[in-house]
Amino acid sequence: MFKGHNLPKRVLIIYYSFTQQTKLQLKQLVAGLESCGIEVTQERLEPISPYDFPFRSGFRLALAMVETFFRKRMKIMPISPRCMGEWDSIILAGPTWSYHPSGPILDFLDRYGREVCAGRKVIPFISCRSYWRWHYRTLKTYLLGCGAIVEKPIVFIHPIREPWRLIGLVLQLRGKMIRREKSWFRKHYPGYGHNKEQGAEALQQGRQLAEKLLENR
Ligand SMILES: Cc1cc2nc3c(=O)[nH]c(=O)nc-3n(C[C@H](O)[C@H](O)[C@H](O)COP(=O)(O)O)c2cc1C
Repeated sequence: MFKGHNLPKRVLIIYYSFTQQTKLQLKQLVAGLESCGIEVTQERLEPISPYDFPFRSGFRLALAMVETFFRKRMKIMPISPRCMGEWDSIILAGPTWSYHPSGPILDFLDRYGREVCAGRKVIPFISCRSYWRWHYRTLKTYLLGCGAIVEKPIVFIHPIREPWRLIGLVLQLRGKMIRREKSWFRKHYPGYGHNKEQGAEALQQGRQLAEKLLENR
C-alpha cells in the first residue's frame, strides 16, 4: 500500500518558447529537479498560427510588437488532459513580449488557467531581454484570477549591455545576426540569448526547488 509521503513529488511545466531561450533554460531546470528525484511532466504550448521565425520583414516585426503590447492572444492547440491532474507545483514558462506574457501563454490562461491552476502553487518562469516586472505583474493578476497560489518568479535576462542587447535581439528576430566572430559588432555582442553561466544557474534553481518540495513531505 502507498503511503502519501512516499509518493514522488510531481511538477508540471507548461511552456512556450519562440526562439528557444525559455526551452534551453528549462532544460537545465528540469535536469536539476530530476537529479533530486522529482517527477517532471512538460507541456509545450503550440500556437495554431505562430509568427514566422525569423520575421520576414521589419513591418511584420513591428506589427507583432504592437499586437503583443495590446496582449493579442495567439490561439494554441488543445492541451493534454494530463495537465488537469494533481501537481505539487506548476511552472508556467515563456518569454516577455512587449512587456507582457506571450500570446500563447495568454490564450492558455484564458482557456485553461482555472482548470489547471486553481488551488495549485504556480511559479512564473520568464525569459526576456531586459524588463520583466510588468510581465510578472500581468501574469500574477491573471493567475490570482484563476485561483492559483503565485510563488516567487524565476527570471533570466539576456546578460549583455544596451544598446547591443536590443540591436542583437532585432537582428536575431529578423534572421540577420552577424555571424563573423571577429566583426566589430560581435565584440560587443557575443551571442543572442542566455549564456552558459545562466544555464548553470537554472540547474541550481532546479535543485533548490527540488529541495524545497522534498522538505514539504
Ligand atoms: C514580439 C516580441 C516582443 C518582445 N518584447 C520584449 C520586451 O518587451 N521586453 C523584453 O525584455 N524582451 C522582449 N522580447 C525578447 C524576448 O523576451 C527574449 O528574446 C526571450 O529570451 C525569448 O524567449 P524564447 O526564446 O523562449 O521565446 C520580445 C521578443 C519578441 C519576439
